[in-house]
Amino acid sequence: GRCVVAVDGPSGSGKSTVSRRLAVSLGARYLDTGAMYRAVTWAVLRSGVDLADASSVAKVAGETDLRIGTDPQGYGVTADGVHVEVEIRGPEVTSAVSAVAAVPAVRAILVARQREMIAAAGRIVVEGRDIGSVVAPDADLKVYLTASEAARAARRSVEDATDVAVTAADLARRDRLDSTRTADPLTQAADAVVLDTTELGIDEVVARLRDLLTE
Ligand code: CDP
Repeated sequence: GRCVVAVDGPSGSGKSTVSRRLAVSLGARYLDTGAMYRAVTWAVLRSGVDLADASSVAKVAGETDLRIGTDPQGYGVTADGVHVEVEIRGPEVTSAVSAVAAVPAVRAILVARQREMIAAAGRIVVEGRDIGSVVAPDADLKVYLTASEAARAARRSVEDATDVAVTAADLARRDRLDSTRTADPLTQAADAVVLDTTELGIDEVVARLRDLLTE
């Protein structure tokens, strides 16, 4: 039957790894909503419009043909037919994405797409910042993953092979932008299960979420 799991939290909280593994173990689809904001940001940077010009940014978002797969074991992301899986993880997109994601009209476009994809999938693990609060408030399970700032920066700097101090500064900057923006800020849904993953391994987190789903 239908099963929607919403996984929210800041960068480096383990969201992506946990969400993908949970989806595989449930035989469900997986949607990385951050990749959608990143792909729109790639298109905005390519178009050359001013990031501070919200209506031009929204226009690019509306005109970009964005496609993303939902296979937890490997999904493609294209923008206007260009494969952007690598570019969307690069430093240019990472430094601009929170500004693009703060534009309400951009969020309206992507949230509508995300709701369609969730309805089409039926069984799906969806990861982001506003999934339990805005995109899928009726999710069967809402999870909010956290970890200490030091643990998050350490994980992300290993993944990206970047300097830990530089990574820590980037995470702190994005956390601040993502939690203070007016449109759909990063928040813990009132009914979300909060898990601090600082001392937990991926397998332990996945096992706890599976237990919560069968309770
Ligand atoms: O991988 P990481 O956790 O660093 O970030 P991400 O999940 O790829 O998301 C990148 C950015 O997209 C975030 O910093 C937010 O600004 C934005 N985002 C959002 O606003 N809402 C979402 N549902 C997902 C991502």
